[in-house]
Amino acid sequence: MDKILDGSALAKKIRTNLKVQTEEYINKYQIVPHLAVILVGTDPASETYVRFKEKACHQVGMKSTLINLPEDISEEKLIEEIEKLNNDKSIHGILLQLPIPKHLDSEKIINLINPEKDVDGFANENVAKLCKNQDALVPCTPLGIIRLLEEYNIKTQGEHCVILGRSQIVGKPMAQLMLQKNSTVTICHSKTKNLKEIAKQADILIAAIGKAHMVDETFIKDGAVVIDVGVSRINGKIYGDVDFDKVIDKVSYITPMPGGTGPMTIACLLENTLKCYLNLVE
Ligand code: GUN
Repeated sequence: MDKILDGSALAKKIRTNLKVQTEEYINKYQIVPHLAVILVGTDPASETYVRFKEKACHQVGMKSTLINLPEDISEEKLIEEIEKLNNDKSIHGILLQLPIPKHLDSEKIINLINPEKDVDGFANENVAKLCKNQDALVPCTPLGIIRLLEEYNIKTQGEHCVILGRSQIVGKPMAQLMLQKNSTVTICHSKTKNLKEIAKQADILIAAIGKAHMVDETFIKDGAVVIDVGVSRINGKIYGDVDFDKVIDKVSYITPMPGGTGPMTIACLLENTLKCYLNLVE
């Protein structure tokens, strides 16, 4: 049995469908879905992510505009840019690439993005809706993981899902989504005692810590489903949180790296952009 949860293949399928839908909506409304991407500074990894996001938009027939701002921009100026985009009727989605420089209050700024244009689902209004099982814009990486689990008919109800990492971007929203899927959810983090023993109880293990190859076979229960979200760069090489070669014999399913959760994040960003567009134009 093939154990690979092929994120590249599913992302391609989603993008193909989105391309058809986008064309239909453009014909219907005579308005092109348009994502604004804000990049503050010149972090090479962020520049790469932003380039991927823009390219993906263009491939499905959406517009994207990159707003590249200087590293030392003042908070007032950045807020001005966001307000301009909030008020611009031709813009349907706004993405602020994280992290932003330390002198800027990211929580404050994220919450100044119009929640209807919040394609990342990071603003308080969307976080609250997700926690209350209401229709929300959901962060792209956790949403992509849910799509992948659904595609491969992976049982979630009653299963123990252990999430490594408690970030606002992945760990916390992932926990909410797995609760909605009726899993029993445990979140582990840097202060967790006996993390390995808890991970070993997981039917579904989601690693989102950002420590290269931290998860080896000693963290894995036989037959577990393993999702690798971590991305670490060491000497120009990219590593996931999971040491794939060491765990492959134990798992029932696993995401590869690359080609697992990364492409799904981008596909879900496009989904969210179309969702924002439809909410705004319909
Ligand atoms: N930085 C790392 N992941 C993400 C993400 O999903 N969205 C944004 N805006 N920035 C990120």
